[in-house]
Amino acid sequence: MNPKKLRIAIDGPASAGKSTVAKIVAKDLGYVYCDTGAMYRALTYYALQNGVTPEDEAGLVELLKKMKLRFDPSTAIQKVFINNEEVTEAIRQPDVTNNVSAVSAHGEVRKQLVKYQQLIAADGGIVMDGRDIGTAVLPDAEVKIFMVASVSERAERRFKENTEKGIMTPLETIEKEIAERDYKDSTRAVSPLIQAEDAFLVDTTSLSIDGVVAKIKEIIAKQQ
Ligand code: DC
Repeated sequence: MNPKKLRIAIDGPASAGKSTVAKIVAKDLGYVYCDTGAMYRALTYYALQNGVTPEDEAGLVELLKKMKLRFDPSTAIQKVFINNEEVTEAIRQPDVTNNVSAVSAHGEVRKQLVKYQQLIAADGGIVMDGRDIGTAVLPDAEVKIFMVASVSERAERRFKENTEKGIMTPLETIEKEIAERDYKDSTRAVSPLIQAEDAFLVDTTSLSIDGVVAKIKEIIAKQQ
């Protein structure tokens, strides 16, 4: 019997380990992985490049029309392209990170990107991570995970990742930025970060990556 091609929604705050775990789960199941945060980041990067402010909703929507966003999931690090320019690294830089919450708070921006995300997920067999996947993008996803970890643990993880990439932001600054982003993402009017009623809560604070993957696979197995 062929197992069903499920839609797996993984939501949670910044640096809770969503993308690391989602990628592994997708690979193991032979599913597509889709990082929706990268879409909001790509738009933020493109806006900063084109002198459109993160507050300018109409300007951002215009930019989206001109922006051809492409993901290449065939490599270990999913590559991101805007109009054929590779922006994989650029969208992770601090200026993008610090402006992305403002960009992603606009209803019209979300409407466009959510439509695109729903199209990508239409055939199932996908692990999609973000903030509103279980609540707004795929409210009828077969599996919903809400992944959390303490602010200090998440700051340490981001600090390590940054150091490996040569980004030298101090730990205290990262901790402050993560807390600020949590606040903005959770209190925005449109599709705030919130646990769906039918989502499984997974606290990764004291779990290894393998531990989290195992836990999520257990949850998925129950739905197959
Ligand atoms: O997962 P990330 O840190 O790369 O996401 C970047 C930002 O994009 C995050 O601060 C909130 C926003 N985001 C969102 O609003 N909805 C999503 N589905 C994914 C990300």
